[in-house]
Amino acid sequence: MPKTIIEPFRIKVVEPIELSTEEQRQQYLKEAHYNTFLLESGKVIIDLLTDSGTSAMSARQWGGIMQGDESYAGARSWLKMKAAITDLTGFEHILPTHQGRAAERILYAYLGGKGKYFLSNTHFDTTRANIEYTGATAIDCLTEVGKHPETEHPFKGNIAIDLLVENIQKYGPENIGAVILTVTNNSGGGQPVSMENAREVRQVCDKFGVLFILDACRIAENAYFIGQREEGYQDIAYKDIAREMCRLADGCIMSAKKDALVNMGGFLALKDKAIVDACTSMLIITEGFVTYGGLSGRDMEAIAIGLEEVFDPDYLNYRIVSTAYLGNKLTQMGIPIVKPVGGHAVYVDARAFYDHIPVEEFPGQALVADLYLKGGIRAVEIGSVMFGKYDGAGKLIPAPMDLVRLAIPRRVYTQSHIDYVVETFAELLDGKSSSKGFKITYEPEFLRHFTAHFTRL
Ligand code: F0G
Repeated sequence: MPKTIIEPFRIKVVEPIELSTEEQRQQYLKEAHYNTFLLESGKVIIDLLTDSGTSAMSARQWGGIMQGDESYAGARSWLKMKAAITDLTGFEHILPTHQGRAAERILYAYLGGKGKYFLSNTHFDTTRANIEYTGATAIDCLTEVGKHPETEHPFKGNIAIDLLVENIQKYGPENIGAVILTVTNNSGGGQPVSMENAREVRQVCDKFGVLFILDACRIAENAYFIGQREEGYQDIAYKDIAREMCRLADGCIMSAKKDALVNMGGFLALKDKAIVDACTSMLIITEGFVTYGGLSGRDMEAIAIGLEEVFDPDYLNYRIVSTAYLGNKLTQMGIPIVKPVGGHAVYVDARAFYDHIPVEEFPGQALVADLYLKGGIRAVEIGSVMFGKYDGAGKLIPAPMDLVRLAIPRRVYTQSHIDYVVETFAELLDGKSSSKGFKITYEPEFLRHFTAHFTRL
């Protein structure tokens, strides 16, 4: 039997990619003020901006879409989505939302407020923003090993249990809004969390009477890593691994745009009816009635099917192996990346790659711009553009790392697309020392990376 792991699907519908020349891209990028968020997607050849909402749906999902029941109340499609979520999470109480951050807004507005603290392995930026918006404080408690890009460890997404306990004692259990375990840990390089770690979180939460919420948007990918790497899980189905993890928590939030293999959707699933009841009014006011939230019937139909498909072992094997394929090729070329490769993305250490560009000149942004100019590839800077702040004198306080994320959409690109990305990196490597940094010429007060303007130095 040949060993190559193939895409376990055939392509039934295609979307043309418009090719462009480097000269055209010079012009496009200039018009976008050197910010790839401001580019039209038609001017991008390979779009690795995000794995969120960019999945290709299956023939079964598209078939399901035609079966969508668009009734305002009690829709058949809602019952299917609810059954699929209860089957996975074990939770009875489910609130459908239009995407993950809507579920975050509703839950954290209820649990948060001034004087409350939330503890997580790493809060994703919308999670942090929704918590801080209520006046509460979000504290990251990542293990030390998770902070070192070069260090290999099977579960670099784990929360540091000692920090968790320390913070609960420091602020008082009654002031902890929730412990949020994000699987996989997106902001920490897409690294997985072990079952053992989740079990320890459960114990700590039981001991102090604190709520345990799972951010489950990449839980199938996390389950794959547990199946491959954690003692005792080798013969357990990925879905059962995910089920076990959900059952350790008191509730979960999921952006269905990731591991439910759809383009839009999310939900909040909880054990405690009192919290659900408190969140229901806000759901109805801001999202929609309880049996559709922010979704149409067809969306709910596709989510129900996607949640099943994502646990197919051949799919998950292809998914994780193909992400690692890109990471391993880059490593072989000597390009520094966060190791080991995570589930949904490869994170390049741009500060190390462009070591001649000072942090104040945004090496991550330089790499993002060069990937686009050289190959029409769109990636995202996760570094001092996104997280950098200024001190009182206007001097940049850089982010701890300057990374560039190459997020892989699910079931979208083939191996030759990825080989093209690798080749683009090879060309960048050749002309590496001539790349120049950037200066910000316009920036809004919040979330500047989305709309900032740059000029090349
Ligand atoms: N939690 C995590 C861990 C996420 O990665 C995201 C989104 C969300 C919550 C919010 O979900 O987008 O449906 O509102 N991550 C995307 C990304 C945007 O590109 O990583 P959403």
